[in-house]
Amino acid sequence: MPAPEAPTVFVLNGPNLNLLGTREPAIYGSDTLDDIAGKLEDRARALNLAIDMRQSNHEGHLIDWLHEAQASDARAVLLNAGAFTHTSVALYDAIRSIRTPVIEVHLSNPHAREAFRHVSYVGMAAKGTIAGFGAASYLLALEAAAGL
Ligand code: DQA
Repeated sequence: MPAPEAPTVFVLNGPNLNLLGTREPAIYGSDTLDDIAGKLEDRARALNLAIDMRQSNHEGHLIDWLHEAQASDARAVLLNAGAFTHTSVALYDAIRSIRTPVIEVHLSNPHAREAFRHVSYVGMAAKGTIAGFGAASYLLALEAAAGL
């Protein structure tokens, strides 16, 4: 268990990421979202951070949770917005509307994929991006959050 005062890092996951493990494993790997949560919790404990991991297929939930991250004084947000990354001006605005630092995370490397994935509204507003390392992208992003 982290110490009660351990700062919290929100880990927000967007559409279709609930299907990790069976969803296109050649691209996204075989870890489920629960597997990734477990790895993050182990590493967070060592960094004296707490993880609040969530997933939604609905854009508005992600926006509400970004606002909540600021309201609850979270240390940072790791955000894998899935396909909303490439479409959502509302997420861009939400990230810019809060002071909480947001780190964009992707399992795959969108720049090495279809052209429609080369634009990232999340990345335009985020503090930084970690992509292409599979489940390890989340762990690398957590290290970055710990250093903020
Ligand atoms: C993703 C990349 C996005 O382009 C895609 O729509 C996803 C997953 C990733 O983690 O690699 O849903 O965010």
